[in-house]
Amino acid sequence: MIRVLFVCLGNICRSPLGEGIFRHHVSGAGLEHQFEIDSAGTGDWHVGQQPHHGSQLVARQRGLDLSGQRARQILVADLASFDYVVAMDSQNHRDILALVPRQAPRARVVRMMEFAPHLGHLDVPDPYFGAQDGFETVYDMIDAACAGLLAHIARERGLTL
Ligand code: 4NP
Repeated sequence: MIRVLFVCLGNICRSPLGEGIFRHHVSGAGLEHQFEIDSAGTGDWHVGQQPHHGSQLVARQRGLDLSGQRARQILVADLASFDYVVAMDSQNHRDILALVPRQAPRARVVRMMEFAPHLGHLDVPDPYFGAQDGFETVYDMIDAACAGLLAHIARERGLTL
């Protein structure tokens, strides 16, 4: 199993999209039995909640259902059990690295937008305080980066896409 965890601040806007969109790419490649995919937040404010309405709406418009997801906070143990921990922005990346245990962390901690370098962004912007078009922009960024992430993992793991 290849375990991939998407992480943002609240686990209600961006990382639920990462989880849902990456799952869709993995299924499209027929690789769903080889992956475990999850998401979490660095903060705990929204634990137990469904994804934000704006994320659910844009996902539904693109054919994905996020309603089964519930927010949780990242655990130190996640860094030992996941292979790839994918931060949505640079602050999330720093916050995750601050949790990495000194001994043998398993996870590679990366940033989502490293996998869509042609878009020229390091961070997926937080759409929480903005309008619906922010969620649409974020969806497209994450979708492009999920394609790049899957190609990257496939190369590293010798999987055929
Ligand atoms: P997310 O967005 O990190 O993409 O889930 C946010 C969700 C909640 C808050 C900030 C960002 N908040 O301040 O509660």
